[in-house]
Amino acid sequence: MAAVDLLVTGGRLVTPDGVRTGDIAVSGGRIVPGGEALHVLDAKGAYVLPGLIDSHVHFRTPGLTYKEDWAHGSRAAVVGGVTTVMDMPNTVPPTLSPEAVLAKAAMIDGTSLVDYAFHVGADPQRPELLADLDPGVAVSAKVFMAGHHTAPTVVRDEAQLDKVFAAAAAGGVRLVLHAEDEAVFALLDRWRGTPERHRDYERYRPRTGPIAAVAQVLRLVERHGTAAHVLHLSTAEEADLVTAARFAGLPVTFEVTGHHLSFTDADTRRLGARTRLAPAIRQRADQDRLWEAVWRGEVSTLGSDHAPHTIEEKCRPVPDAPPGLPGVQELAVAVWTGMRERLPDESPDVAIARLVRYLAEQPAALFGLRGKGRLEIGADADLTVFEPGGRHMLSARDVRAKCGWSAYEGWTMAGRVRTTIRAGQVVWDADTGTFGAPTGRWVRR
Ligand code: DOR
Ligand code: ZN
Repeated sequence: MAAVDLLVTGGRLVTPDGVRTGDIAVSGGRIVPGGEALHVLDAKGAYVLPGLIDSHVHFRTPGLTYKEDWAHGSRAAVVGGVTTVMDMPNTVPPTLSPEAVLAKAAMIDGTSLVDYAFHVGADPQRPELLADLDPGVAVSAKVFMAGHHTAPTVVRDEAQLDKVFAAAAAGGVRLVLHAEDEAVFALLDRWRGTPERHRDYERYRPRTGPIAAVAQVLRLVERHGTAAHVLHLSTAEEADLVTAARFAGLPVTFEVTGHHLSFTDADTRRLGARTRLAPAIRQRADQDRLWEAVWRGEVSTLGSDHAPHTIEEKCRPVPDAPPGLPGVQELAVAVWTGMRERLPDESPDVAIARLVRYLAEQPAALFGLRGKGRLEIGADADLTVFEPGGRHMLSARDVRAKCGWSAYEGWTMAGRVRTTIRAGQVVWDADTGTFGAPTGRWVRR
């Protein structure tokens, strides 16, 4: 028998063909059929998942590294069982061209525990760049339809959006969209002014913003045939609209974040700026509809929208407090906790397979990351050893993001990540609290 580097034994393997107890053999950073092992890792009592993929993080390089950097962000990721992230372009300067992506990649090289890919920003001044974008440089182009503190590059008017959608369709580029209608917010602000209390924030950035923008996105997709992934849905109406459009044959999909599944406006009353994000956290009925999208398979990906800001920034007066919260560390356990609370009688094997679909298989497929997202022979040996039971309280001490705070502090999580493995190397071991080496790679299509 051939010698292999590592054998992960006795876990419940979550594979594309179902969940079964077995071993995973690793050699040369890949999953291989089996053999004598140099090292053995016991996964009894745990699930072995394909390394989780978070297709929506803001790791803040370049220019905003006082909020977050790849050392901290990637540690938060592996503690949360995430082995690949896709990074957003609203940096300083913004990542709006292939050259900017290459420059960013050079800065990250040697600092990340996880593998990574990039979303380039759609430049309203140069929409034509998307028509011949190299798919090896960016997995998609991000469009901010509304701006705020950390998102100044906005594709604002209909004519600009039309050019971006046309160019992306010509280049075969998927758009990922922050779909909120800035004109709706501007109109409301002129009438109402700005909120004085965080608890009022939702009324100032209400559901009409994203609903109007999603309707516009669907018109543009219909006109140009552009593949569009709408990010961080916050309302029931958006879920209905995108699902209906997909049913009608349009190439549209959507993401839901861990935050929108975990918090409602009742939490914002308690947590203030911590749960302030764009789009806003909404009512219980919206959250219920987003969970329904999870149960029914309408959602394609779950993302963290990991968007750290310092506590000092979050404590500013309401109009100056930037939206966003860290979440790559909390994403999988928070979603798992929600799943078990909402459907306690469901078989854990069924629930975990669903988690893997949204947090590994589908993000890899949608963004074309070969060798990722599936536990099978020949795939990258990225593995998340996940204990489904127990109760684990999250405290500020546990937070790995550079900002040092979490909106989930005080939450009791069901389950925890025991071990995270990237390319066959242990990058996080919860029992000893130790990390591996920052040898994460750029995953280029
Ligand atoms: O809440 C948000 N924060 N929404 C965004 O669109 C961007 C993000 C950030 O970068 O802070
Ligand atoms: Zn985001």
